[in-house]
Order: sequence, then structure tokens, then C-alpha cells
Amino acid sequence: MRTKLFALACAKRGMMVSTFYLFGVFPMQICELQSDSRRMLFETIPSNSALAVGSFIYDDKMEFKKLLYEHQLPFVPGAKFIFFSPALRYANQLLGQNKSIVIKPADGSLSRHTFVNIKSAKQVKAAIKSVFLISLEVLVEEFVEGFDYRATMVGFSQIAVAKRMPSSIEGDGRSTIAALIEKKNNEKYRGPVNSRNHPMHIVEINNSLLKKLAESNCNLATVLKKGERKNLSNKINLASAADIYDVTSTTHPHNRALFERVATLLKVPIVGLDIIAQDLGVSYKKQKLYIVEANPKPYFEMHHFPLIGEHRDVAGALAELYVDSA
Ligand SMILES: Nc1ncnc2c1ncn2[C@@H]1O[C@H](COP(=O)(O)OP(=O)(O)O)[C@@H](O)[C@H]1O
Ligand SMILES: [Mg+2]
Repeated sequence: MRTKLFALACAKRGMMVSTFYLFGVFPMQICELQSDSRRMLFETIPSNSALAVGSFIYDDKMEFKKLLYEHQLPFVPGAKFIFFSPALRYANQLLGQNKSIVIKPADGSLSRHTFVNIKSAKQVKAAIKSVFLISLEVLVEEFVEGFDYRATMVGFSQIAVAKRMPSSIEGDGRSTIAALIEKKNNEKYRGPVNSRNHPMHIVEINNSLLKKLAESNCNLATVLKKGERKNLSNKINLASAADIYDVTSTTHPHNRALFERVATLLKVPIVGLDIIAQDLGVSYKKQKLYIVEANPKPYFEMHHFPLIGEHRDVAGALAELYVDSA
């Protein structure tokens, strides 16, 4: 869908994006941008091109952390390991300081193998083992508190900021949880889990949902009181039907400048920063704000189709970069 939004934005500006087909049948993620003066190959969306001054190595989370540290920008303390024992030792050391822990692959994994808010040595062991099954390098980090935000920068300026919340429903005093979920699933833009053509996904009725409801003594037949909000998942990824709120216009100018500084250091045409903070409406100088990750091919559909708030044209801003320099 990202590619489609970008291709449409390019078409509006007189440029053409075409996709390559394997054996002439299967669409690949390799595309070509053509304008009067250029032909450029890219994968999914342009993420490193002649516009980028340096190379982009920051999808390695540790390298990104180092960059933030070197420039005295807010990062999450942590370390990367290739062996089990030192990772365990470091994690236990953090636990000993009464810190909760996050264990995840050092490269991205769409949150599938990220273990957050770990509080016991037993959980630490199991999490490190699982991550080593799918990744050569494990990152052990402090768990930091706050809401999840995504800030997307194009051409080093901030285009959109979204707050990402776990999927939730609000009671009306009459409807059952099952009915409220059905209503939510009928919302505009929601499609089947794993659909690549929808910016938001539906809430699936599965064991983890039932378990989550049971934690607060509820089930699908429970009627929620008017105004009572219930989270349907602990996760904030798309597969868990996360809710997206646009907060671009209320993001504090200091935070905006901070994110733009990071984008400038990364020297890439587009980047999506994962941020954890209490409220992006407050300057980072006055609260604890952490930059967790930089995504070189950010999932910007969320800004185009937020659940609540204004639509932000990230694809248009990205296409504009290639018009200007054509
Ligand atoms: N150190 C941390 N403290 C608290 N939550 C975290 C931390 N690291 C990751 N998370 C949570 O896990 C999610 C996924 O982590 P992230 O590093 O962005 O990996 P991915 O590559 O899977 O997107 C984040 O959006 C955030 O909600
Ligand atoms: Mg992320």
C-alpha cells in the first residue's frame, strides 16, 4: 500500500512508477521511478538515494543508539549481544537495579519478537532464547514508560506525528463486547489481519483476546458501562489492530526540532522514528522522552488514514523530493 500511495503521488506530479514482475506474473517489491530527467530503482519506497549524503545503517538498533548517544540525544540505555551468557548477565544486572527490561532482535522484526516489561530472571532467560532463535544479535534494553508515538520526517522536515494506542473499545451501557468489536471492525480503512492493502486491521477474536478480556473478568458477552474503555491487546502493532491518532499539530516545536535533527543526522529522504514519551505536546526538555528506533521504510499509511485526526500526505511530500531534484 505504501508503494501504491507513493506511485499515485508521483503520477499526480507527472512521474511514473512501475513494478517489476517475476516471470512476468508475480509482482516484486522492486520498482522504477521515471520522470523526464531520471530513472531510479527502489524497493517498496525510495529510502536511500542520491539525495542521501551518507549510508543508512541505522536499521541496526544499536548503531542508531550510538548515534543518538554521540550527539547527546535521548536514547534508551541498552546493549547488543551475540552470546547468551553476557546478555543474561547484563539483563540480570538491570533487574538487580529494579529496572524492567525489553529484549528484542537488534534488527527490526515488526514487533513480533519484542518482549517488553520483563520483570523476572525466568522471563529474561526465555525471551533471550526466543530472540536468538530468529536473530544473530539480541538487544537488551531498559523498559521505558510512556505512550508510543511515530514521527515521520521527509527531506529532514517533520511531516506527521501519530500516537499509537492499543486497540480499544468504549462501552455505551447497552452493547456487549462482541458487538462493540464488530462495530469497530466495520470502521473505515480496517481490513483483514495481514492485509497489505489496509492501513488498519480488524480485531480478531482469538485466544489472546479472550485471555486479555479474562484478565479483567470480562468475556465477549460482557456489557461495558457507558464511557468505560477496555483495551483489547497489550501490543501496539498493526496486527493487533492498533488505533492511530494524528497529533502532528499539537507536537511541541522543541520535539519537532529534535526529530528533524535526528533525520538530518541520518541523512535519508524519509525516516519514521519510534518515540516513547508521556505527551509529545510537552517539550522533551520538560519530560522523559526516548527515541527508540529509526525505520528507513516507515509504514506511513498510518498518517494517511488515522482513526482520529487529520490526514497527512507523507507520500506526496516524498514524491515532491524527486520532482524538485529532477
Ligand atoms: N525500551 C523499550 N521500552 C518500552 N517499550 C519498548 C521498548 N522498546 C520497544 N518497546 C515497544 O515495543 C515496540 C516495538 O519495538 P521496536 O524497537 O520499535 O521494534 P520493531 O522493529 O519490532 O518495531 C515499540 O513500538 C514499543 O511499543
Ligand atoms: Mg518499531
